[in-house]
Amino acid sequence: KEFIYLNEVDSTNAYVKQNQQYLPNATVVYAERQTQGRGRFSRRWVDLDKGIKMSILLKLLLLDLEKIVPFTLFTGLVINRVLRKHGVESFIKWSNDIYLNGKKVCGILSELSGEVEGFGSIIIGIGINVNAKSVPEEIKDIATTLKAETLHDFDRTRLIIDILKEFERELSNFEKYGFSYFRDEYKSFCINLGKEILVNGERMLCKDIGKNGELVCEKDGKIVEISSGEVTIRF
Ligand code: BTN
Repeated sequence: KEFIYLNEVDSTNAYVKQNQQYLPNATVVYAERQTQGRGRFSRRWVDLDKGIKMSILLKLLLLDLEKIVPFTLFTGLVINRVLRKHGVESFIKWSNDIYLNGKKVCGILSELSGEVEGFGSIIIGIGINVNAKSVPEEIKDIATTLKAETLHDFDRTRLIIDILKEFERELSNFEKYGFSYFRDEYKSFCINLGKEILVNGERMLCKDIGKNGELVCEKDGKIVEISSGEVTIRF
């Protein structure tokens, strides 16, 4: 396996995308700084000092690429598990944001890319706000850092190693049994359940997390299943 450490890059996801033909499966690209970090829904990912910004390249059979949604859910679950092992009382906001004290500390951006001879790749980008004292004014109502909430520093190397180890250790279970293997744990940490939420602007009640990780909601007395989209929780 390969671990590439970069001081500065535009975006680790973009780096992996551009270089994937030369990179072996399971390569991890880590950057100390991103100048054009990307978030979901074409947003940018604000670059904080002393954080974790990395991308994992997974080369898969084309027919397995449809697992991208459960894959990202799985990644969120792994990160939540590792943070909890490090004493952080984190939660998961569907589909894969990690929250601490009601604010976001980690985001995941998965991208599909490239198809060569029956193989394609999933790039899983992980951004965690770790040791920065605070976040900029513009995002301070919605985001925070591990340090700001717990008032102590975290060993970033330890966190990275634990996340990658746990990811690798559980990957075979994920591949064998799919998301359902992790569903109970996911549900026990998912903050959407039982709440009224907005899905792409539409108001609904979140009832359950389905077998493949989809959000099961009730809207006007009908059950709707959501497999992607922007979800806002109305606290
Ligand atoms: C989100 O919550 O919107 C997803 C944020 C993902 C950020 C990470 S940081 C490492 C990787 N490279 C990027 O450009 N984005 C992801």
